Amino acid sequence: MTACFSHFDPLLGGQDAENMFRIAESFGSFGTYAEEATSEGLGETLPQRFDVGLNYTANGLDGQGNPDSEQMSASRTNYFRETYAYGAQLHVPEISSFMNNEQLQSAASHIGGSEYVVPAIVYANLLIPGQELAIHTDVPEFRGLNRMNTPQWFLVCMHHSGLFEPWRVPILTCVSWFGSADGGAFTFYPEGSAGPRKAISATHNTAVLLDTDSVFHGVERVVPTIHDLPAITGQTRLHHAGDDYWLLQEQDQTVAEYTWHDLRYSISWKGYCFADAKQHGLWFGGQDQLTVTDVLAQFESDLRSKGMANLSRLDATERAGALVEQYIRFPCGLKPES
Ligand SMILES: [Fe+2]
Repeated sequence: MTACFSHFDPLLGGQDAENMFRIAESFGSFGTYAEEATSEGLGETLPQRFDVGLNYTANGLDGQGNPDSEQMSASRTNYFRETYAYGAQLHVPEISSFMNNEQLQSAASHIGGSEYVVPAIVYANLLIPGQELAIHTDVPEFRGLNRMNTPQWFLVCMHHSGLFEPWRVPILTCVSWFGSADGGAFTFYPEGSAGPRKAISATHNTAVLLDTDSVFHGVERVVPTIHDLPAITGQTRLHHAGDDYWLLQEQDQTVAEYTWHDLRYSISWKGYCFADAKQHGLWFGGQDQLTVTDVLAQFESDLRSKGMANLSRLDATERAGALVEQYIRFPCGLKPES
């Protein structure tokens, strides 16, 4: 089944779009996207999205293979992120109108068939020339289990298994783009893993809204002619240096300079999309919540019924690998359609 999505062109008024650059600059600098550590008992040594990393290392962005070293793969996908709003917390007051944008809420309500749309988060990603985002689905949420208390790969397995839909909190995401960087198209599989890959240009002041928890997606390389890029570590930061200029710094050393034209700047809005008042009430009231123990028992039972791995005989790392292998079906590298 083809996933619904909305394309906005333009998304905002001209001045509102221009103000998005000022908001990024007001942060002063962007750090790399940090992972929360919530893996106790479920594979502490595993990266939160080892599912995505394994697939990217083996297949690259387009499924044709990945010629990069491990370090280059990490630098290529280690992008920069800051959160503009989280629930009622506005980290910059100017983001309020975007967080509560009625056009987005109305489109989310329509696509999600939802009576209740609750804006959840707004964050910004910056990618430098040579970077890209591996194919993935976003981290879903369930009543009782989310990224604050459960490993991200585990939540993704839960969603792809289809076993926990009654507890899932449906989320729709709007990805919007600002600026004029070359490349960096949003690429996705609206017809599922076996369907064709489509791409939407990351054109200034446009956006797409869809279920990124369910639809595999990624970002094509920014400035595709650039194959090499500086080493990006957890300490690397992107500092605004006045006017159009940004500096890539490791500790206090500047390792590259960019202008706004070089950077792919996206802002993502996520909203909880509840079917009705009852679903909203269950989530809001903290009722009917899942636990990791419930989920492991359900996984065990499902895999046994299919004659597959006996999870109880595996250690935590082996069990994580078995769950990812059984439940997550990455797209197999079909060429993009124009
Ligand atoms: Fe994503």
